[in-house]
Amino acid sequence: MPSFRTMQWAGGKLRLLDQTRLPHEEVYLDLESHEDVARAIREMRVRGAPAIGVAAAYGIALGAAGIVTDDPDLFHSRLDAVCETLLATRPTAVNLAWAVQRMRRVAAAKAPATARQALLAEAQAIEAEDEVSNRRLGTYGAALLPASATVLTHCNAGSLATAGYGTALGVLRAAREQGKQVRVYADETRPLLQGARLTAWELQRDGFCVTLITDSMAGYFIHKGIIDCVIVGADRIAANGDVANKIGTYALAVLAKENRVPFYVAAPTSTIDLATPSGDDIPIEERSPEEVTRVLETPIAPQGVKAANPAFDVTPAQYVTAIITEHGIARPPYMRSLAMIVRGRNREVNRAFK
Ligand code: MRU
Repeated sequence: MPSFRTMQWAGGKLRLLDQTRLPHEEVYLDLESHEDVARAIREMRVRGAPAIGVAAAYGIALGAAGIVTDDPDLFHSRLDAVCETLLATRPTAVNLAWAVQRMRRVAAAKAPATARQALLAEAQAIEAEDEVSNRRLGTYGAALLPASATVLTHCNAGSLATAGYGTALGVLRAAREQGKQVRVYADETRPLLQGARLTAWELQRDGFCVTLITDSMAGYFIHKGIIDCVIVGADRIAANGDVANKIGTYALAVLAKENRVPFYVAAPTSTIDLATPSGDDIPIEERSPEEVTRVLETPIAPQGVKAANPAFDVTPAQYVTAIITEHGIARPPYMRSLAMIVRGRNREVNRAFK
């Protein structure tokens, strides 16, 4: 079990661990409105695809509580605006749109008082389900690791990125719970250093053997034969198995394939987007060039230099050894295995793609 809470509903507010302050300070924020939640997502105080979805769901519950009218039409048109505000925060992680759609469905055609209650209950259900999904996918994924494993990961796909336990790091937690020995190499993950700031903090705090490396060292360690497998999370998985994840993931996947090291993606089914046919259709968030010309607050480049900052990249399905979900492990051809997973035909999937 992780030793901290990424977020928690308490006293009618959303309590969030501010991830921009880690690893040096553990500061919790109490968010009281949907605007607060939207700002926290935009500023990456909460980040990671599943965590963004859960936070947005609570944001909608807070927004609904703040609409003081008994008029159903007025209530629903304002609720729509609340949903749109949250949807517009970050474009790549499909868990956000998935959670907003679930919340919209639950409120539809309900009277304001009933809708407010149902929305809070749904946000709590989304949070609880996410943690259960992570634990399940962790158990499936742990079975892929040898008894003593050295795993390379990128960005942070841990408890901090979810409602709890984590996806890629959930696999490592489950492997350890099964008595396996796990050593982790964590890429620092430029430009915002989620690996150095968050993964190193989370794993060290929970007693894992973690070694921090710069992104450019990954090839060296993979080529040396030190890495048994790479495990990353995902922001969106297209119907054909192409995976959008933190910038730098694609390069790792190519390195892994070249060196015959398995490359696993761990993600709940809320990250699988069958409506998006391939990676070419996934919107990639472009962030401020200043995140590249600075390391955190410190300028490192000549003033005025041009910089590009795509926050995610797409790893084509051909580089992905398997996709670990709470309904089982999908293997190529993904068009078929992911569709089966999403329809919940888990037993069949595990038989067919062993
Ligand atoms: O920009 P971020 O920090 O939100 O990006 C996060 C990632 O890319 C994670 O790997 C992904 O969301 C999976 S989290 C379980």
